[in-house]
Amino acid sequence: MRHPFIAGNWKMHKTVHEAVVYVKEFRSLVKDIEDVEIVLAPTFTAIHACAEAARNSKVGIAGQNLHWEKQGAFTGEIGAPMVREAGADYVLIGHSERRQYFGETDQSVNRKLGAALGAGLIAIVCVGETLDERERNQTLAVLDRQIKDGFDGITGDQIAGLVVAYEPVWAIGTGRTATSALAQEVHAHIRQRLRQWFGAPAADQCHVIYGGSVKPENTKELLAQPDVDGALVGGASLDIKNFFEIVNRSRG
Ligand code: 13P
Repeated sequence: MRHPFIAGNWKMHKTVHEAVVYVKEFRSLVKDIEDVEIVLAPTFTAIHACAEAARNSKVGIAGQNLHWEKQGAFTGEIGAPMVREAGADYVLIGHSERRQYFGETDQSVNRKLGAALGAGLIAIVCVGETLDERERNQTLAVLDRQIKDGFDGITGDQIAGLVVAYEPVWAIGTGRTATSALAQEVHAHIRQRLRQWFGAPAADQCHVIYGGSVKPENTKELLAQPDVDGALVGGASLDIKNFFEIVNRSRG
């Protein structure tokens, strides 16, 4: 049985101070919630302070990106062991904004995934088609490529422990959510591919979560789908009440 997995991606929002104030309040709001895995992804500069503020609570902290090398002459980049040492237990990899604006490819996703696993981070690997790809009926082919290339060389056991976030690019920050039926159809396809390529434990244990304009009002319906195991929330996670409401409504 997969418990709901709810992550807030703050993107390039919140100062260290704002982030810590949020985490301190949020940890007390969720202190009695045992059945949901809750994660927040602040900016790199706020990871350490947020991890300290979240210590011994129900809230896990994620990085939003990392570099595939542990260290070296890569100005402006951060290695997986550094993200881990700063206090993150999780990391986002291959977010569509990274693919769109920063040249992320399935190959770099694959290298970053290897680095994350090597550092003991739980990876949240993002996949999803653009509007153009959807309109050209390429959604499933794009996802197949992102999964096949992104997970190349990764074992079924490793995949069982990670999270796949399906984020249709056309639904991110647009207010245009995928219908729950569409999300279910794509999630079921992803799970079927995981089963086919990486075995039953990978397919059964891996969390496949949905992202793209998730808000309190659509959480229950999305999470009611058998293959939607949680949500990756952008805009609505910036507001503590909204995010708490999403966590609450994700519970059975
Ligand atoms: P929104 O929830 O703002 O659409 O963002 C989704 C997202 O990109 C989460 O990673």
